[in-house]
Formats: sequence, C-alpha cells, structure tokens
Amino acid sequence: MTNKKIKIAVVFGTRPEAIKMCPVVKKLEKNPIFEVLTIVTAQHRQMLDSVLELFSVKPDYDLNLMRPNQNLWNLSSDILLGTKEVFDKEKPDLVLVHGDTTTAGLSALSAFYARIKIGHVEAGLRTFDKDYPFPEEINRVLVDSISDLMFCPTDKACKNLEIQGIKKGIYKTGNTVIDALFYVINNKKTDISFLNLNPNLKTILLTSHRRENFGEPLKNICYAIKELVEKNKDIQVVYPVHLNPNVQNTVRPILSNIERIKLVEPLDYLPFCTLMKESSIILTDSGGVQEEAPSLGVPVLVLRQETERPEALEFGGVKLVGTNKETIVSNVQQLLDDKIEYEKMSQAINPYGDGLACSYIEKIILDYFDNRPVL
Ligand code: UD1
Ligand code: UDP
Repeated sequence: MTNKKIKIAVVFGTRPEAIKMCPVVKKLEKNPIFEVLTIVTAQHRQMLDSVLELFSVKPDYDLNLMRPNQNLWNLSSDILLGTKEVFDKEKPDLVLVHGDTTTAGLSALSAFYARIKIGHVEAGLRTFDKDYPFPEEINRVLVDSISDLMFCPTDKACKNLEIQGIKKGIYKTGNTVIDALFYVINNKKTDISFLNLNPNLKTILLTSHRRENFGEPLKNICYAIKELVEKNKDIQVVYPVHLNPNVQNTVRPILSNIERIKLVEPLDYLPFCTLMKESSIILTDSGGVQEEAPSLGVPVLVLRQETERPEALEFGGVKLVGTNKETIVSNVQQLLDDKIEYEKMSQAINPYGDGLACSYIEKIILDYFDNRPVL
C-alpha cells in the first residue's frame, strides 16, 4: 500500500464520449487517491461544450482541434501529436479513452507509443464487419488490442474480446451511459416547451448522423419520414440535425418547411433526455440512443444494417430496420397501428447496466494499482 496518487488522464472529444465519460471523471475526482486530468481533443466543439457545462467538468487541457468539415487524416494526426505533448508533460499512470471515435483510437495509440497503461471504457463492442460502422469498428479493435483494462458494458462484449484472443484485463461493468442518464433524469429538471410540440399528436424522434448513411441512405430516411407524416395526420416528427455538414446538406433540402416536421439544432443532453422520454417512437442510427431508450420504455427502430449493440434487439426494445424507405415506413406504421406490438417493444428491459458502472470502474482501477482509497 502506497500513498502515492494514481494519475489518470481521461481523454474524450465528441458529444457521446463526453456524456459517457463525464460521470467517470466525477466519480474518480471524488477519490483523493486519484489525480484526475481531463483532456478534451474537442473533435466536436459546440456539442462537446454543452455536455461539459451540464456536468460541470472543466478540462485541464483543451486541444481545440475541431475544424469545419474535418477529415479523418487531419484529425487523426492532430490528435496523435496533441495528446503526445500532454502525455510527455504529465506522464499519467493510466489513460482512459471511450468507445470507437477517432479521438479514442488515436489517443489510445498515442498512449501506447508513450508506454502508458490504457483503460478502455465501453470495450468489446463489435459488428465483426470492418465497413460497418466505418471507421468505428476498426477503432474499437485497435483500442482493445492495446488496452490493459477493458470495461465492457455486457457479457456479450466480454465474449467478443475473448474471441479476439484477449486473455486478461476484461471486466463487465455496464455502460456509463446509464449512470449519465439516471444522473440527469433524477437530478436535473427541464421543460421542452421551447419545441412547441402539439400535445395532441404522437411524437416521433429522429436522429441520424453515421458516415455509412451519408448520401442515398440518409435521403431514403428523409423520404420515409416525409411519407409517414403525409399518411398519418396524428404524428409529429422532431429531428435534431447533427452539425456535420454532410448531414445538414442532405436533410435540410428534403425536410425543411414541412408541416409537423421540426428540424432543430442538436439539443442539449437534458432536453434531449426529456424529449426521448416523451416520444412514442425513436428512429435512430445513434449508438448511445439505442442504449438509453430501453431504460425509458420507448421503442427504437435502428436505421442501420448492423448493430454492435445486439442485446436490446434480443430483449425486444430495439429493432434493426436498415435504410430502405419502404421498410422504414412499414415498420413505423406497424408500431403506430398495432398496440400489441407497441406494448411488447415498450415494456422491454434495459440490458446496458444498473447505473453503477463508474463505481465498478473505480474499484477495478484501484485493484489494478493494488491500492485502496485514502480515508
Ligand atoms: C463523430 C464520430 C462518430 C460519432 C459521432 C457522434 C469519428 C470518426 N466519428 O462523427 O463515431 O458517432 O462523432 O456524434 O470519430 N461539427 C460541428 N460542431 C460540433 C460537432 C461537429 O460543427 O460540435 C461538424 C464540423 O463541421 C465537423 C463535422 O461536424 O468537422 C464532423 O465531425 P466529426 O467528429 O469528424 O464527425 P461526426 O460525424 O461528428
Ligand atoms: N444526444 C443529445 N442531443 C441530441 C442528440 C443526441 O444530447 O440532439 C445524445 C444522446 O442522448 C446520446 C448521445 O447524444 O447520449 C449520442 O450521440 P450521437 O448519436 O451523436 O453519437 P453515437 O452514440 O452514435 O456515437
């Protein structure tokens, strides 16, 4: 037992990483055995800042890397070099990264080059298809290959790592997104009257931003929504449009100025959670939303060919429908018309954790460094 502090650098850069890592930062900061450094790449800017504000997390280092319409090459090299500088100066004992973004992949690689131990939060997710999602599947494989501690949300994720041949450092913790969701729902209040939703209509919430859906698939999604709204006078659709210009430039020309379709800017996490809760159906290609919605009892139709989150499919709260226009329309129509099917999907349980993932992660890190909290 030593009283030396364990220096942990927590690195993240996009909105979903921030939502899932801020609770980890808050948890570790409460334990005086840890010296916690928060490093943001700011792969996202506005969408990151709104989460930092909600959780009152102040980064120690902000690399401020986002560029309009950035590409994978520039962003990757900027992250590699930017994190190197901080790692060289701070020499952390452990670097924590999250998930499968460019920030996660390149920060982990940077830590590996610097011979620093790595912990991967949300480890083990796989489609086993390098092109779906692109480039995230390869980021996950890379990060897990060089991590020392892998915090898996589910048994399936642990199994995926064993399939990859990883023999140690695998732990099931649940997903920290459930910690974030419970924190927000139980501690923060908001009202979403600014959206001017009609209380007499059913609300369908839509989000779509994945690279592999750019172009035709995203157009199909938009045309499906248009058709559904024309057919069903009792529904309204809210679409917080991701700030990526590839998304904005496809969605706005097709769906602007249509009655009962509200295109809005990305919502802050708190109103977004309220909107999810108050929606009848969610259509999404988002990873995080697939994990959150089953906790809120809202059926989710996933606008993708594959998902690395099969658990909620098995439990029944989520269905994979792809990006074909007719298939999307018929699946939404079924949920609107068939009460039994709707009830079945909305009563499914959440397989992604009990809201205590951050506590398990803290304990695993303490055990790894063979240490105990200073009382
Ligand atoms: C990234 C991640 C993806 C994740 C998604 C979450 C990679 C390769 N992709 O995709 O895995 O699901 O974030 O949303 O890591 N932009 C802004 N302001 C913001 C955020 C984005 O203007 O706050 C615009 C910028 O023009 C930026 C562009 O969106 O260049 C693309 O951002 P980028 O992080 O490269 O890609 P995402 O599609 O957001
Ligand atoms: N989210 C949000 N505001 C929005 C849309 C999504 O706060 O307008 C949250 C959502 O609840 C989830 C996370 O952002 O926790 C998902 O981010 P995104 O879909 O961008 O990325 P992914 O999870 O697919 O990587």
